[in-house]
Amino acid sequence: MPEDSEPPYFNLRPHDFGSDFVWGVSTAAYQIEGAHDIYDKGASIWDRFVSKKGTIFQGQDGRISCDFYHRYKEDILLMKAMNISHFRFSLSWARIFPDGIGKVSEEGIAFYNRVIDFCLECAITPWITLYHWDLPQVLEEKGGWTNRDILGWFETYIKLCAERFGDRVKQWIVLNEPMVFTGAGYFLGVHAPGRKGLKNFLPAVHHAVLCQALGGRILRKTIPEASIGSTFSCSQITPFSDRSKDIRAAQKADALLNRLFIEPSLGMGYPTESVPILKRIEKYQKPEDLENSSFDFDFIGIQNYTREVVRHSYTVPYLRAKIVKATRRKVKTTLMDWEVYPPSIYAMIAKFNAYTGIKKILVTENGASFEDQVRNGEIADRARTEYLQAHLEQIHKAQNDGLKVSGYFVWTLTDNFEWAEGYRPRFGLVHVEFTSQKRTLKASGKWYGYFLGLGKELRCI
Ligand code: FCB
Repeated sequence: MPEDSEPPYFNLRPHDFGSDFVWGVSTAAYQIEGAHDIYDKGASIWDRFVSKKGTIFQGQDGRISCDFYHRYKEDILLMKAMNISHFRFSLSWARIFPDGIGKVSEEGIAFYNRVIDFCLECAITPWITLYHWDLPQVLEEKGGWTNRDILGWFETYIKLCAERFGDRVKQWIVLNEPMVFTGAGYFLGVHAPGRKGLKNFLPAVHHAVLCQALGGRILRKTIPEASIGSTFSCSQITPFSDRSKDIRAAQKADALLNRLFIEPSLGMGYPTESVPILKRIEKYQKPEDLENSSFDFDFIGIQNYTREVVRHSYTVPYLRAKIVKATRRKVKTTLMDWEVYPPSIYAMIAKFNAYTGIKKILVTENGASFEDQVRNGEIADRARTEYLQAHLEQIHKAQNDGLKVSGYFVWTLTDNFEWAEGYRPRFGLVHVEFTSQKRTLKASGKWYGYFLGLGKELRCI
């Protein structure tokens, strides 16, 4: 047997992380569902963005993707077979409210009811993310996240979801990585809706902060027994050198990438002392906003894939800091050109753990894409298993050091549409052949299932 078809030796067992530790996988609606226009589904900003020339790798789109809409049973059964007991997925706002607000699509609601009910039937706990980047296009046409009216739109959407699904779903996440959807979508223009510049970014940031807390309050009121969180992208930031300029640049990048959304939610305001340009958010603030930016979340989700090395740069406006790409540093990388650097997850758990207002931390995304090869119907993705194991070791170390981390969700179950990168990066534990939609468990998926099943054979594969 070739060496790489054997899973690497791993000395930890799920119970080493505690009996209440949550083990799961994460997904997002636009990346997996397909069925982009079934029944009365409205278009989202991603449906529109993918049709613009030059936005997505090879002009690809998520119109079909891995067709979770029609294949949810097969995929949930795969989770069950892999002993995965928690499933984090997002709701597509435009599938529920085709016009953003107003008319409700009962077909959209019925789809999510089917998914939730089937999870419960399979003894899998559903975790709903309310917003994973796919704003209804009609709302973008009214300004999207830059328009303060989004508070009202978001309230309508969340209230309905809580009312319709809250009887069975008790785990709720308000936003997925607000830094990424405001930064990539409203500053750099590389994600939907493709807007650029501070004039879009700053109001989008402020409204996302307010919506994050507002969402928490609505959920708490509508489903008092729910456990409510929000998720944050984060990466350890290392200065390129010990020159004071690089150290300052790293501090600024850290404030922007790791602190911008968590601190206002804890009542600390924006990190303006590190990034003075953020003072311009004042223009969009009302007196009551400081108070309304915070919410007492039951947990936060941190999402970590890599670390960033940052150096001073005169050419980058406002920040004077830039990321030194991993390929230039000649380090081990994934297909995304993200450095494989497991200590980053430990550093991020420690960083968030240090905020007194945070009660509970879960890792709601971690995973990797590599060049997967299908040979004789098998995918021997040893590098992915090693990546997951190395990160789990860091999480275990964090627990041993007294840091509170109580869950781990792999990104992701099946290969899917990776935003601007299209289908090239495959992050799944399950391989998808997109023309036939055939699912094949990768070696990493077999390992994860075997690990979660305490070494027992996978349940039905
Ligand atoms: C995260 C996103 C998720 C996925 C992974 C690879 O930033 O939340 O949707 O794209 O990266």
